[in-house]
Amino acid sequence: MGRFIVIEGLDGSGKSSQIELLKQSLESRGEKVHVTHEPTSYETGAYLNRILAGSDDKDIHLQAALFLADRIEHVTNPEFGIKKYLDDGYTVICDRYYYSSLAYQGTDPECDYEWVRNMNMGCSKLLKPDLCIFLDVKPEVCKDRIDSGRDNIELYEQSAAQLSGIRDGFMTVLDDLKNNCGHNIVIIDGGRDIDVISKEILSYV
Ligand code: ADP
Ligand code: TYD
Repeated sequence: MGRFIVIEGLDGSGKSSQIELLKQSLESRGEKVHVTHEPTSYETGAYLNRILAGSDDKDIHLQAALFLADRIEHVTNPEFGIKKYLDDGYTVICDRYYYSSLAYQGTDPECDYEWVRNMNMGCSKLLKPDLCIFLDVKPEVCKDRIDSGRDNIELYEQSAAQLSGIRDGFMTVLDDLKNNCGHNIVIIDGGRDIDVISKEILSYV
């Protein structure tokens, strides 16, 4: 059985960059590594990506339910699911997981934290990660990186103030799951040099 590692952080916090470096490090040690992300590229994920792109304005409860539906398929699909890769001995590195649902949807004032928490934590089809690493980067820095990196600004990337609110949400969620659900969560300073961060992540993995 492989290990299930989740990398979380604000948009633009450096998750993809760090995941690629972690993959290379683990593979150079002879490990089999499978990298994946949420939302997925499958049907529900494609619907979510349209909502995130701003072309389909949807209620926050509906978003939370869709992210969960996408996640259940992501874990259980017999061909491409996370569980299948873990069973085959792969280390699975996942860019976002239910921590994002609790932070982005659950802590939104229009939504219901307990409901989002219960349906994710209480879903017996989902797997509890072995490790969650949160890359902590200042919201203003993330916003600059997002703006200089691409033209299409998504639903949750509108302003540094919005990102700051989401970071606060993450802090509440990570504290809750660490202290009340026994999650193995590490918060890393993601504002440093790429290679310094990468070494620290590898030490925790
Ligand atoms: P995410 O996947 O979290 O959106 P990315 O890995 O795509 O983040 O990084 C967003 C941008 O920031 C990219 O242009 C990337 O090259 C840059 N970047 C990533 N990590 C760092 C870092 N530690 N310092 C400076 N720039 C970084
Ligand atoms: P993504 O392309 O992964 O953003 P980035 O690579 O910049 O981090 O987009 C995912 C977006 O979806 C991101 O804004 C966070 C959001 N999201 C949720 O709102 N809830 C969720 O459960 C998940 C998995 C993602």
